[in-house]
Amino acid sequence: MLTQARILNWLRATEPARLEVLWRLADAVRRAHVGDAVHLRGLIEISNVCVRLCGYCGLRAPNRAVERYRMSSDEILACARQARDFGYGTVVLQAGEDPALTCEFVAEVVRRIKRETGLAVTLSLGERPREELAAWREAGADRYLLRFETSNGPLFDAIHPPRGAREGEPRDASRNGAGLATRLDQLRALRELGYEVGSGVMIGIPGQTYADLARDIALFRELDLDMIGCGPFLPHPATPLGREALADEHASEPSKGRPAPDDQVPGSELMAYKVIALARLVCPRANIPSTTALATINPTRGRELGLSRGANIVMPNLTPTRYRTKYEIYPGKACITEDAAACNHCLSRRIESIDRVVGQGPGGSPNWRARMGGES
Ligand code: 5AD
Ligand code: FES
Repeated sequence: MLTQARILNWLRATEPARLEVLWRLADAVRRAHVGDAVHLRGLIEISNVCVRLCGYCGLRAPNRAVERYRMSSDEILACARQARDFGYGTVVLQAGEDPALTCEFVAEVVRRIKRETGLAVTLSLGERPREELAAWREAGADRYLLRFETSNGPLFDAIHPPRGAREGEPRDASRNGAGLATRLDQLRALRELGYEVGSGVMIGIPGQTYADLARDIALFRELDLDMIGCGPFLPHPATPLGREALADEHASEPSKGRPAPDDQVPGSELMAYKVIALARLVCPRANIPSTTALATINPTRGRELGLSRGANIVMPNLTPTRYRTKYEIYPGKACITEDAAACNHCLSRRIESIDRVVGQGPGGSPNWRARMGGES
């Protein structure tokens, strides 16, 4: 078994010949457990309204520069039909924590998508009460994505002020990792409700150490995740964490209370590949995307390299172009000016260029199937 100590060792590895071993291992495990098909998930960013204040995210409530939008159910349905016409098996409905996306609104959208397209539906709508998660599952939702972002409790709390917090308010030191516990509780609830459960982390969060990241990866295994999404942290200048990271780039010493430079995980492309590869090794049957954040740091080869080092999923963007520019969780996000047809074409071509095949059907996680008592 890949112990946490070994994971840590890989995370610190720099020698190209050694890393080549990791890439090959991850690629072989990927092929053996999920095959050569790369499944396409049509991403629909249904609302950029958010009540939360996550320290890294451009959509955080106090960011006045963002023009907010919320798609109507007819607009969402039109995107879902387009997904079906492109031959995708799944749509992912993603949004900030938007209270106007009520339990009933989302349930009805899910029912309509299932009825009119038959596609698998993945939700990524933040932390929500268990009753709502249950109602959406009942309505036909298949999967849910909620990254835990970091397994370091104090760091989690520092970058995720509690719901209802106000900008500039002093931090409540007594939370003691309660924020992370809440997030992990939600992942547990999703599992109990029979969802395929996805989570993951950002790589290179200011304050994230190598030991933290090794623990994150060990936690993927402990949580027995069906889907794992990880990407590099990309500093957004309109966020506290982004400003700190950008200031640190020009400083000779790290900010107060931050890890020593050789303990801080870099938000680099290489580190992102290592995490994808290690995620594949600890969760062989999980669905693992080559993420947009990776395509953002390396637009020419990022997606392909992710797919060659453990990933088996890509998420073409279906959000109408007029809304895309407004869903800026980090700056320079890939595909911001392309339309759905361009992303569809681009990704199919990229998949074929590395001798993989576009997956057919819903492409559910074999890990989930095995857990639910089916074949592996
Ligand atoms: N850089 C990289 N990833 C980010 N996310 C949010 N903001 C950023 C950023 N600045 C990721 C988080 C979230 C997912 C939807 O996007 O991990 O869970
Ligand atoms: Fe959108 Fe390549 S995936 S342009």
